[in-house]
Amino acid sequence: MAETKNILSEEKEGILYLTVNRESKLNALNFDTLEEIRNIFNEVVDNKEIKGVIITGSGEKSFIAGADISEIAELNELNARKFAENGQEVFSLIENCHKPVIAVINGFALGGGCELAMACHMRVAVANAKFGQPEVNLGIIPGYGGTQRLTFLIGRGKANELMMTGDMIGAEEAKRLGLVNHILATKEEAIAQAEDILKKIMTKAPLAIGMIVDCVNSVYNREENGYQTEANSFARCVKSGDYKEGTSAFLEKRKPIFKGE
Ligand code: COA
Repeated sequence: MAETKNILSEEKEGILYLTVNRESKLNALNFDTLEEIRNIFNEVVDNKEIKGVIITGSGEKSFIAGADISEIAELNELNARKFAENGQEVFSLIENCHKPVIAVINGFALGGGCELAMACHMRVAVANAKFGQPEVNLGIIPGYGGTQRLTFLIGRGKANELMMTGDMIGAEEAKRLGLVNHILATKEEAIAQAEDILKKIMTKAPLAIGMIVDCVNSVYNREENGYQTEANSFARCVKSGDYKEGTSAFLEKRKPIFKGE
């Protein structure tokens, strides 16, 4: 993995564990941290050892308390657009990654933190998690894809309420709204839950998993016909050795061994 200052990374048994490590700033995302995330995900694509990713925040109090407000306070109109586009680009890398990415949300997931969590394929919350898009308190709006992903995830009415009031919600409410998949009592248990999900996915055909990512994301792309993407992706799967292995294994009444080919 690339050298990083603000992200701890460790690969174990096919899972890459990423921890945003700016605990004294509640793991706020500054420009350098975003660039580190970009470089890591560019590497994850080609790294055959890595089959899935878990992202969390350092400590118990906060996942990520937003973009770094000391940098936001210095923006002007020209670089503000670039600031938002840059964050959107990095989060799209996460969203489009062909390997499953799970956010384990410990504590505050605010602003860019909630946006990063929403860019992941799934979210597992610790009971103390708190979600919100409090940008209106700073005179701005979410800029890293939050207006879009929050609306897709929880619907227009609730997304408007959260973004316009800047209110925070707890883990139970987030689960009720469909923002998180699971809630666990502690960070350790939440990581174990994310590991269980990834380990199960790792027994499936990797190409098919990547195709699911593309097809699900195509729902959100107004320029794409998702049904066409699905049919094309289905055909791509059928060209793979894993398709032959999966169907043969079923007929031969044995467990398939997928190679990602
Ligand atoms: N950017 C930069 N620094 C941040 C930050 C952010 N988004 N969120 C927290 N911090 C820093 C604080 O400035 C403080 O630093 P200091 O000790 O050097 O003064 C440190 O993290 C601890 O935060 P603090 O506010 O003292 O903790 P708290 O428990 O009283 O409050 C929050 C926690 C999350 C409610 C509060 O920090 C907060 O509202 N943060 C901003 C959230 C936000 O608006 N995010 C969206 C940004 S677009």
